[in-house]
Amino acid sequence: MRIERRGTGAFMNDRQRKTAISIRGLIKHYPDGTVANRGIDLDVFEGEVLSILGPNGAGKTTLVRQITTELNPTSGSIKIKDVDPFLEPLKVKQLMGVIPQEGALFSHLTIQEHLYFFGRLKGLTKGSARAQVERLIPLLSLEEYRGKKIKNLSGGTQKRVFIALALLGDSPILVLDEPTAGLDPAARRDVWDLIRAVKRWGRTVNLTTHYLEEAELLSDRIGILQGGELKRLGTLDDLYRSVPKTYRLVYNKRRRKPASKRDYGSHEHGYPRDLRKRCPCREPR
Ligand SMILES: Nc1ncnc2c1ncn2[C@@H]1O[C@H](COP(=O)(O)OP(=O)(O)OP(=O)(O)O)[C@@H](O)[C@H]1O
Ligand SMILES: [Mg+2]
Repeated sequence: MRIERRGTGAFMNDRQRKTAISIRGLIKHYPDGTVANRGIDLDVFEGEVLSILGPNGAGKTTLVRQITTELNPTSGSIKIKDVDPFLEPLKVKQLMGVIPQEGALFSHLTIQEHLYFFGRLKGLTKGSARAQVERLIPLLSLEEYRGKKIKNLSGGTQKRVFIALALLGDSPILVLDEPTAGLDPAARRDVWDLIRAVKRWGRTVNLTTHYLEEAELLSDRIGILQGGELKRLGTLDDLYRSVPKTYRLVYNKRRRKPASKRDYGSHEHGYPRDLRKRCPCREPR
């Protein structure tokens, strides 16, 4: 078994690249005194997938909620394509498709009603809102559910509705807070394929995740957030290089020797000694 380094890698010098999201000295204190972001500096370049990887409570959602205008920073600045979300929140919302970590859909609306309604809220004409509904429902494999009310859908299907809503209006920037949380492995792979397609369409994606393999597979660059601080930022190769030691994991597939009596005792089921008391034939009758 070999651990491979994957990832698409950066393709240009950072100075040559246009910035989609620019964050400087971002600090967020919540009213109860929690400091969730502690001086974050980050540029997300146009056309890249940048993943923010971090454990629970690292400050990922707090960062996302400030980018998407839901929260105001305590100090520092954010620019979305040179627009300040604090000063021009509506303009910034037009530039972004968002999947919140915890969002609520309207339980009594169907999928197609949702897409149409949110398309109109995004400023699409009736005709283009209808056209987007017809494009996005097959793209997210939602055909069989299109007329179903949200309250009757599984969590995974609801997640796909969120993804469709984020893609509405062809926004140039997508901000996805744990887009694959709660999905089964097949559905996760579908979302990964979709994110790769979105990148091919030239959009910028900023996503958060707990999963290292998700960040590895999808990202041009990865930021590691911990305790509200951006501890590392770079391509996968940059991150590997910044680790002082690397390890190679070697797995040899050999036939095991038959278990000896000493290891497994003489019990007829061959249970190890410490498990023998759990053997069904020892269960109290
Ligand atoms: N509304 C709030 N009021 C006070 N503290 C908050 C609030 N929201 C989040 N926090 C705290 O801020 C810190 C960062 O939380 P945040 O939700 O941003 O982390 P996260 O990285 O998204 O975590 P997870 O992976 O669990 O989603 C945590 O200590 C959390 O308890
Ligand atoms: Mg979160």
